[in-house]
Amino acid sequence: MAKFLVQRSGPLKGEVTISGSKNAVLPIMAATLLTEEECIIKDVPALRDVDVMCELLGSLGAKVDKNLDENMVSIRADGEIRWEAPFDLVKMMRASILVLGALLLRTGRAVIHLPGGCAIGERPVELHLKGLRALGVRVDEEQLKKGIVDASAEKLTGSTVYLDFPSVGATEVIIMAASMAEGTTVLENAAQEPEIVDLASFLNKMGARIKGAGTGTIKIEGVEKLKGVSHHVIPDRIEAGTFMVSAAITKGRILIKNMVPNHLKAVIAKLKECGVEIEVTDEGVIVDGSKNPIVSTDIKTLPYPGFPTDMQSPFMALLSVAKGPSIVIETVFENRFMHVGEFNRMGANIKTEGKCAIIPGSKHLQGAQVVATDLRAGAAVVLTGLVADGTTEVSQIYHIDRGYEHFAEKLRALGANIMRIEE
Ligand code: EPZ
Repeated sequence: MAKFLVQRSGPLKGEVTISGSKNAVLPIMAATLLTEEECIIKDVPALRDVDVMCELLGSLGAKVDKNLDENMVSIRADGEIRWEAPFDLVKMMRASILVLGALLLRTGRAVIHLPGGCAIGERPVELHLKGLRALGVRVDEEQLKKGIVDASAEKLTGSTVYLDFPSVGATEVIIMAASMAEGTTVLENAAQEPEIVDLASFLNKMGARIKGAGTGTIKIEGVEKLKGVSHHVIPDRIEAGTFMVSAAITKGRILIKNMVPNHLKAVIAKLKECGVEIEVTDEGVIVDGSKNPIVSTDIKTLPYPGFPTDMQSPFMALLSVAKGPSIVIETVFENRFMHVGEFNRMGANIKTEGKCAIIPGSKHLQGAQVVATDLRAGAAVVLTGLVADGTTEVSQIYHIDRGYEHFAEKLRALGANIMRIEE
């Protein structure tokens, strides 16, 4: 198993270029099942999750030409498409559920074995299924009790769907299923994340008629056919936010290229509250943690455009060393404080109570043997390792490989002392 060895570093200096967004490229890759023509996707990050999605699409019958050295993937689903997703792939990546809507439109059926819960929560899909049922999809209730989604529909018909929670995955699955349903679908209380906007722009390029992506109400007029297109994926806002924190926590000054500041308004506002100076320039965003003392602030994670749950653990790394106490409230996932135990092994002395974490701050952290409990928590303990005495040994870093392209290399280029060791 590979590990990271991290030592006190910084202040980080120099420039870093953000890769394409994992959470945009996965639904876009799933959407290529909606046409028999070739789709060429660019700015694809070289990540484990992208590899798994390529394998999944290949196992369903699509021709996948992966060229991640060029950050490109070409997909052509022109053959016989199978409707059962192999469990050994689904259990590696719960985002496999994103093929559900496209598979139903393409083959009239979809069978996906749901993985169990994960470190951050139970991850149910009842909202995805609520939307699909509204479009005329039948779901085998007996199979569902065994954790198997076995859905079928000769035809999908547009309808109005209200999402009890603005689920990102449910919004994406329903948009894809509605794109070629008969008639119009209106999705209320839809997720508004930038990744939804990128999926909608990809589908509209293919010939879909989707309006309102990025707002809470999305209207999809079903069309007969979608064509193959090429598309550049948006930058990964969570990778960008993680590198912003790396400059803040080490009191460094870095230039972040290929990021969209507009996608990170909540994170930028909170970093400024902590005393970080942020300047948007034509070249990129300058993040300067060297000018003022880093002070505490409070965080509450919310669906977009609120503070993103994926930035909660990286930001908590900063709060652990900021001057003064902070409170973090995690409202999106029911169990996303697994990283607190790891921070506490380094001396952060954080207390959690339900959805609340109280961070005393002002801690002088000690290096320790810690575990990446999910991909964002893994990045977070690397960040604390940059400002801890001694060596921090991070294990289970396959989580980090799932969501951060060349993470150690990018940090080392900024002056971080981080080494990857293969055991
Ligand atoms: C997406 O997951 C992202 N993954 C997650 O990023 C991200 O944390 C999450 O959105 C929230 O922003 C991808 O895009 C591949 P949700 P998703 O459905 O779609 C509950 C990362 O680190 N819910 O919006 O699974 C659910 O339990 C990953 O890159 C239901 O209750 O998120 C959770 O508490 C982690 N019923 C909350 O909604 C449902 O039917 C958010 O889930 C669906 C979801």
